Amino acid sequence: MSALTDTFTMSNGVTIPKIGFGTWQIPNGSEAYDSVRTALEVGYRHIDTALAYGNEESVGRAVKDSGIDRDEIFLTTKCPAEVKDADGARRAFERSTSGLDLGPLDLYLIHAPWPWDAIGSDHRAGNIEVWKVFEELYDQGRTRSIGVSNFEVDDLESLAGATDVVPHANQIRWFVGNTQDETTAYCRDKDILVEGYSPLATGELLDDADIARIAQRLGRSVAQVSIRYLLEKDVLPLPKSTTPSRIRENADVDFSLSAEDLAALDALGR
Ligand code: A2P
Repeated sequence: MSALTDTFTMSNGVTIPKIGFGTWQIPNGSEAYDSVRTALEVGYRHIDTALAYGNEESVGRAVKDSGIDRDEIFLTTKCPAEVKDADGARRAFERSTSGLDLGPLDLYLIHAPWPWDAIGSDHRAGNIEVWKVFEELYDQGRTRSIGVSNFEVDDLESLAGATDVVPHANQIRWFVGNTQDETTAYCRDKDILVEGYSPLATGELLDDADIARIAQRLGRSVAQVSIRYLLEKDVLPLPKSTTPSRIRENADVDFSLSAEDLAALDALGR
């Protein structure tokens, strides 16, 4: 049993490795290329990128050069948050798939319900329009599953009322102290896989004294306890690092957290 090779099964039967390698904020070129190569060498088989990260070309090249069969790797990318019309969504998909150059995707996500410069603004109609393109791409086999990111319950409900396919996954910011309980419970109820980005709160958890105490007792690092916490909650962690030793460390999480430790972690940040 290994967190790297174990899988979650999404509502459409597609399996997805339980830990993904996140590439947000890793610049295109040698940094993205080298870190994805390292992740694949260490054993990650799930890579998460986005058109907006600007690194799809390097990610695609790293996957190809790894020599690992394409069908052994789960690949996610995202349609930019700013795209809220059908033509824009089709163009974004073509750009991503030609940048990656790896054939059909495994998971394609709407990056956010609103553009990043207008967080919270109402794009319900636009999201429905984009989602209908996603349904087409899914029907055509150009992506094996489709989902959303940064969606809350209202955003998910508005899609559900006007479209056919329930998102297979929702990728949200999720870490100890930021467990998005309402959205997470809704997703569980609708069989939508929850993926957690920034499982280390982009590094902020690393000097948390409470997590450190638990980590020390278990002979683990704060990063490992924080990542393990998501797995214990059936949330798929997407840790990001450009440092080879940390890339390895973050996937070495085959241990359990006791009910007591979980309760202590649940209480943090509340
Ligand atoms: P770096 O990329 O320089 O290794 P998140 O996954 O929550 O977005 O957090 C990513 C941040 O945490 C990055 O700054 C990354 O630094 C750092 N980081 C990732 N893994 C570890 C680790 N195991 N130990 C310490 N810092 C880490």
